[in-house]
Amino acid sequence: MQTPRTIHWIGDSSGFVRLIDQTLLPTALQYRDCRTAEEVWEAIRSLRVRGAPAIGIAAAMGVVVGLQGYVVGGRDVFLARLDEVCAYLRTSRPTAVNLFWALDRMQRRARELAALSPREILDGLLHEALTIEEEDRRMCRSIGEAGADLIRDGSGVLTHCNAGGLATADYGTALAVIFAASEKGRRFVVYADETRPLLQGARLTAWELKQRGINVTLICDSMAAQVMKEGRVQAVVVGADRIAANGDTANKIGTYGVALLARAHDIPFYVAAPSSTFDLNLPTGDAIPIEQRDPREVTHGFGTQTAPDGIHVYNPAFDVTPHELITALITEKGLIQPVDAANIRRVLPLDVGERGL
Ligand code: MRU
Repeated sequence: MQTPRTIHWIGDSSGFVRLIDQTLLPTALQYRDCRTAEEVWEAIRSLRVRGAPAIGIAAAMGVVVGLQGYVVGGRDVFLARLDEVCAYLRTSRPTAVNLFWALDRMQRRARELAALSPREILDGLLHEALTIEEEDRRMCRSIGEAGADLIRDGSGVLTHCNAGGLATADYGTALAVIFAASEKGRRFVVYADETRPLLQGARLTAWELKQRGINVTLICDSMAAQVMKEGRVQAVVVGADRIAANGDTANKIGTYGVALLARAHDIPFYVAAPSSTFDLNLPTGDAIPIEQRDPREVTHGFGTQTAPDGIHVYNPAFDVTPHELITALITEKGLIQPVDAANIRRVLPLDVGERGL
């Protein structure tokens, strides 16, 4: 069975964004419509739509809804509003570079179309947003093809957080590798880390894998070491939020720990990501901004208080795995192995991952 569409556009350029409200999964599959830039911003910030590529697609569509009221006010007003909406959407979340990559792309496209009327520019921007979505769909399929043979028959595969269809236009990145291996007839078990504090592994990955009939076993994050020691895991595959020029990779908090465990148990550790997740402007992962989130996600997860009142909390949403711990990067252009700056440059063309207008 297919995963339902994560995010899509309804109608023409006067239309709106429809996305799965991922905060309600796995107990309710409900769509939420966003008709203003503020609603898209809120959906990204509160993780109704989440996962690096999906955030980028949502932001691109958010630009279109944010401009709809400005098609009658003249071109200068329209273009000023474009910059305002993009600056605003950039503040929704800091770590996933796909957000900034998509907004850069929308601004670049608007400049190319600047001689047209505001209505025509808006139509062109909707087309660009839909192109970003369609390209992501294709890249995810290619990532699956590139990585499928890394999953051996009869093996165990561990993943962290959710890098599936819900985190992308469709099919996912890390989960694309798993789906593609399954489609090739391999039989294997996926161990899904539940992924504290927001449980993307338990709520989303376990749900997606079950939907597609994949053999999945849920574990608490703290069980990964024991599961590896017992010889149950032969590969780790995770997604990424931002990959620096040398391959250092930001992904959901806990990923770095999983990479260290994989190294300690001599298990290959793979990162699957499209070229839109590379930030070649950053030489290393040290410069990747790490989102800090509300302490209540740790103390009051899903409505239940689990820590004393007034406790100090540290809640970084992401960590950075050094490139030395990554066996290979799985991209839509193929595998990058070993993971270093020269190899990344060789596989990704010059204009990929180079942000800026
Ligand atoms: O906070 P989230 O749920 O947006 O974090 C998502 C992740 O860390 C994913 O692994 C990453 O974005 C890759 S999604 C293909």
